[in-house]
Amino acid sequence: MEKFLTLQQIDEAADAVRNKITTPPQVGMILGSGLGSLAELVENPIFIPYESIPYWPRSTVQGHVGRLALGKLAGKEVMVLQGRTHYYEGYPMDQITLPVRVMQRLGIKYLFVTNAAGAIHPDFEPGDVMIITDHISLIAMTGLNPLRGPNLVEIGERFPDMSQAYDRKLAELARTEAHKAGIQYREGVYAGLSGPSFESPADLRFLRTIGSDAVGMSTVPEVIVARHGGMRVLGISGISNKANLDGSTITTHEEVLEAGRVIAPKLQAIVLGVLRNL
Ligand code: HPA
Repeated sequence: MEKFLTLQQIDEAADAVRNKITTPPQVGMILGSGLGSLAELVENPIFIPYESIPYWPRSTVQGHVGRLALGKLAGKEVMVLQGRTHYYEGYPMDQITLPVRVMQRLGIKYLFVTNAAGAIHPDFEPGDVMIITDHISLIAMTGLNPLRGPNLVEIGERFPDMSQAYDRKLAELARTEAHKAGIQYREGVYAGLSGPSFESPADLRFLRTIGSDAVGMSTVPEVIVARHGGMRVLGISGISNKANLDGSTITTHEEVLEAGRVIAPKLQAIVLGVLRNL
């Protein structure tokens, strides 16, 4: 039997956060590549470097800062992950998703998750934001499910439902806020792969065929773990590049970070609006 993080270890990590704050957070936020600037708006923030929390994975990717910011944002107490870790960095799934477990142990009921994603839908363009309506958990379907291992019965059931992984009311709030701010938005299905290589043209045609609108290397593990513990999830992708279904263009990490500069203000407006209305 492989070893997985126990509830006791998760609680050690949760205590390390709890001991540094005075007010319990209500909303957890995980910010994707190049999209971390929202954390800078947290009022009177308490920053906790990832390395000071036991078992917490450290992000090794450029564009991910590597600290928690806790404080008030749009009237709500938030815990923001400024930088996330991905399976491709080499951490096991239970460690990748430890931050969501810690949120659950701190009593957080909402998870807002953002990511940079490649457009598969032909109409989507770099700079677009896409409200995630569902995901295709390719990474989990092929065996890398973050819930593999002993079930943490104190948190959730062995076979959790995923019929509404992305909360319909939160998505509706996000639409309303986007309208109010005059932001054109997309919506669609996010396909979660392991990366780190970008997809081949044949991979992308396959993803299109099975109903993906955008593709990325994160989010799905965190959302599965969030739903296991009954959190309500809002997911938004920032479209950073057009996936090259015919092999005519190349995709780079620089272009992903560059698009973040256009996307971040849109995400900011939507997320702040949703927070205000929670
Ligand atoms: N593919 C996978 N992940 C990504 C992409 C992409 O094209 N863009 C940003 N993250």
